[in-house]
Amino acid sequence: MLHVVDNPLIAVKLNYMRDERTNSKDFRTLLDEISSLMTLEVFKDLKAVPTGDKIKTPTNCEIDKLKLNYNIIVVPILRAGIGMSNGVINMLPTARIGHIGMYRDEKTLKPVEYFCKLPYVNDPLVLICDPMLATGGSACDAISLIKKRGYKNIRLLNLVGAPEGVKKVQEEHPDVHIYIASLDERLNEKGYILPGLGDAGDRIFGTL
Ligand code: PRP
Ligand code: URA
Repeated sequence: MLHVVDNPLIAVKLNYMRDERTNSKDFRTLLDEISSLMTLEVFKDLKAVPTGDKIKTPTNCEIDKLKLNYNIIVVPILRAGIGMSNGVINMLPTARIGHIGMYRDEKTLKPVEYFCKLPYVNDPLVLICDPMLATGGSACDAISLIKKRGYKNIRLLNLVGAPEGVKKVQEEHPDVHIYIASLDERLNEKGYILPGLGDAGDRIFGTL
């Protein structure tokens, strides 16, 4: 259930994001681009199926109008997940969007939920986005909130993951596919991913 998206275009962009000298604007642009590239990988098993309608081409041919075989909900975890959602949604113009607000308590490293608004969709495929999977606490709680709504088909998109976080999600939610661009080495004593890229939210929004 762990998919490490191995692509040289993504690897070079991520490497630039890790550089402490990369400014907020470039960091946001790179995250946006990587999110679009990773979306192709996350949904490569979906099917384009006929809607029942027809379209006519400029060459006077009539062909089936197509749609994806799933209704998709994209759910960024605030704040840092917002940095991924446009890149994902640009690839999925018909997706609906939910939001889950969570921050990690600096001392306990436990997630604190402060917002949850999810659209009502019949039997959707839900994609949670958050650049960082560190202890895995935020991802696990977000998945639980989405399951509580009755949604069962859930995927998790992260940029960088620590083995500790991957393990926690796999143990608590073994049905959830995890997509990451890099499985990093470990967490430091403050719960930051090593080598990682620092605090993603602060780097996206310039709140360092
Ligand atoms: C970061 C990150 C994840 C979480 C990961 O958010 O965006 O949501 O930490 O850590 P975990 O796997 O140990 O739960 P943060 O709490 O810094 O909030 P922010 O996005 O508002 O900056
Ligand atoms: N959250 C971040 O933004 N970065 C980390 O390395 C861990 C949690």
